[in-house]
Amino acid sequence: MLTIATMLLAFAPGATLSTHPTTAQDSTVEARTDWGLAESSRQMLIQRCAQCHSPESQDRKARRALADVADLATTAEEFVTAGDPDASELYYLILDGDMPPEDSDVAPPTEQELALLHAWISGGATMPTGAPAPVLQDSEPESVSASHYVARSHPLWIHFPLALIPVALLASLLARVTRKSALDTTALFCVALAIPSAALAATSGWLHAAEMGPTEGMDLHRWLGVGTAVASLLAFLVRKRRALFLLLLAVASGVGAAAGHFGGRITYGPDFFPW
Ligand code: HEC
Repeated sequence: MLTIATMLLAFAPGATLSTHPTTAQDSTVEARTDWGLAESSRQMLIQRCAQCHSPESQDRKARRALADVADLATTAEEFVTAGDPDASELYYLILDGDMPPEDSDVAPPTEQELALLHAWISGGATMPTGAPAPVLQDSEPESVSASHYVARSHPLWIHFPLALIPVALLASLLARVTRKSALDTTALFCVALAIPSAALAATSGWLHAAEMGPTEGMDLHRWLGVGTAVASLLAFLVRKRRALFLLLLAVASGVGAAAGHFGGRITYGPDFFPW
């Protein structure tokens, strides 16, 4: 009961909402006299790159590569060769069109902004002195749609089919051994509950994936998840044919476990269960 309460709490409005600001894409950052080159460059990077490279970002790969673009000192230390823009990853990745990634919906820095970055690095990539608190221009709180809540309910739904399908398999096997028809009823009851919860898991997962953007391993996870839902539905449809019913439940259990495994890798990273 406690776990259910905790789970529900985790999905209460507000609890999981990140307040990460939308990155304005159509306003440009120009060197402001009261900012200086360093702070202007920082503001530009925040505006163009923080959507992926910030602690609030959902793009784990981007965060691993560059955790927080607003932290100019660390960013410069890792990706800037002071005095030499062309040798600075921070500069040439943008120049070559590699960052922001082509397939993202984030607009690249303008020529002016790139010139600003060039000037800052050429000038020795100094740190802002007396820099103002970071201000994200034109940023508005993200409006939260209903589908966002459905997407975030994905971790809740996945547990139902993952538990119900193997339990159905177990009940059905035990029914064969003990010849107790009550166990057959139990198996059917579990499958009947597994189907709608698997459908909810798949729907919320689909929405969640759309919010996350391109993610490594997502396709495999997605289709294993859909496969779990389909196999459990098929099992229910052939429920009168015992052997086929058992086979499909076994398939659904295995495919479901694999879907869970690859979902775990997406959430916790490939090192969590290195296999
Ligand atoms: C839509 C998301 C997104 C945006 C916006 C974005 N990046 Fe990235 N960035 C990534 C991802 C993902 C990676 C990791 C790429 C990989 O390892 O394959 C990355 C990697 C990097 C790296 C490390 C490269 C390496 O190979 O070590 C740098 C530097 C970088 N980005 C700079 C920037 C800069 C500067 C901007 C803004 C102009 C920016 N990025 C905007 C997603 C993004």
